[in-house]
Amino acid sequence: MSRSVLVTGGNRGIGLAVARALADAGDKVAVTYRSGEPPAGLFGVRCDVTDSEAVARAVEEVTIQQGPVEVLVSNAGITRDGLLLSMSEETFGSVVDTNLMGAVRVTQQVVPGMLKARWGRLIYVSSTTGTAGAPGQANYAASKAALIGLARSLAKELGPRNITANTVSPGIIATDMAEGVTGARMKQLLSETALNRTGTPQEVAEVVRFLAGDGSSYVTGANIPVTGGGGVGC
Ligand SMILES: NC(=O)c1ccc[n+]([C@@H]2O[C@H](COP(=O)([O-])OP(=O)(O)OC[C@H]3O[C@@H](n4cnc5c(N)ncnc54)[C@H](O)[C@@H]3O)[C@@H](O)[C@H]2O)c1
Repeated sequence: MSRSVLVTGGNRGIGLAVARALADAGDKVAVTYRSGEPPAGLFGVRCDVTDSEAVARAVEEVTIQQGPVEVLVSNAGITRDGLLLSMSEETFGSVVDTNLMGAVRVTQQVVPGMLKARWGRLIYVSSTTGTAGAPGQANYAASKAALIGLARSLAKELGPRNITANTVSPGIIATDMAEGVTGARMKQLLSETALNRTGTPQEVAEVVRFLAGDGSSYVTGANIPVTGGGGVGC
């Protein structure tokens, strides 16, 4: 299997693990990164997903390098936590602009090629917080819940053209993003999991690899939790 894959935010954490897992499986993998150097051995394009023109340029570069994107893993995301009553509109909006609108921008650029090919895989990295909610994360939860609605709608819009759309909802995964979660809050989150530990980026990547591969051809509109048993039912 050698497909043209694009992973947003693929220079570290879950995105990098996904990119490496798909490259190891034989795919042609490009990653977007915002600053610094692209990861060794992967084709990197500099791109901020809040910038529509940068997204269009990045998708064009990837298309020239490895052909039209056949698998999109929309993974770029941020948190800017705080209680809603004291949260500025800018803080709330910046999280939605990155996590939801970033995914929308990249989707709009890659879907035309998928329509032409009559084949495609859209995979969005949501979060268990999107369905469970979390104090101090109303902006993040809203953006992640929206990704589930986005994927389910796209599953219906694009299903007739053999394009699937799914979300993966990780629980607490050991990456830079989770580093700020410590002490009592981390203890509580771990106690809510059945496996009593954090997950690894590789454990999320394995589920994404399934969704990107031939084995998931009848899976669309699904939200797959990767939570070690936490937030079951999401
Ligand atoms: N770590 C967790 O516990 C956890 C749990 C659930 C969901 N997630 C989700 O998984 C995804 C990956 O997170 P992670 O844990 O690897 O965190 P991370 O902070 O290590 O990685 C986030 C990635 O997104 C990129 N990014 C952020 N804003 C961007 C922008 N405007 N344009 C382009 N790229 C941008 C970053 O450069 C980075 O590559 C995120 O969507 C996150 O919400 C993480």
